[in-house]
Amino acid sequence: MASGIRFDKVSVAYGANTVLHSLDLTVEPGEVMALLGPSGSGKTTALRAVAGFVRPASGRVLIGDRDVTDLPPHRRGIGMVVQQYALFPHLRVEDNVAFGLRAQKVAKAEIPARVTEALEMTGMASYAKRYPRELSGGQQQRVAIARALAIRPGVLLLDEPLSALDAQLRSGML
Ligand SMILES: Nc1ncnc2c1ncn2[C@@H]1O[C@H](COP(=O)(O)OP(=O)(O)O)[C@@H](O)[C@H]1O
Ligand SMILES: [Mg+2]
Repeated sequence: MASGIRFDKVSVAYGANTVLHSLDLTVEPGEVMALLGPSGSGKTTALRAVAGFVRPASGRVLIGDRDVTDLPPHRRGIGMVVQQYALFPHLRVEDNVAFGLRAQKVAKAEIPARVTEALEMTGMASYAKRYPRELSGGQQQRVAIARALAIRPGVLLLDEPLSALDAQLRSGML
């Protein structure tokens, strides 16, 4: 189920540097929203606030009708692709994608099919046995997208998810 997101007067600061200034923003269920802005304007910070990797100095973050401001990231039902992919280097592609499913306690018998499904969506099914270091940047990025999709999250956050892909792959992935 898609969930809406609401920023309710959210301010985020790193030390003395306030990056988000009382941000009000609503994303409706099923809506796809893109944040555009120059480098350093706070796009990643806004996503981190939704995912729970930074805590607002003030304001609230809601997912659906739930106030998640004080919830840890793993309890927010979110899939996130971070800018630097953050694949686990010691895990094969298939285990990177399975990671969230195991954490969610998805039935063991169901995991291989879910992994394959997610890898097929990003055109990476034939790379399941590789390690991240054996992949190009664009391939790693597609594994990160597959990993986020595999858990079928209610909210999917993508931080410049197509940056390492060429024009043709980009339109396919969209
Ligand atoms: N962990 C951090 N500690 C201190 N400052 C940070 C940190 N992360 C980001 N910043 C600063 O916050 C501002 C916004 O960064 P960011 O949200 O990454 O912008 P964007 O994603 O739009 O490029 C920048 O000035 C950046 O230098
Ligand atoms: Mg960023």
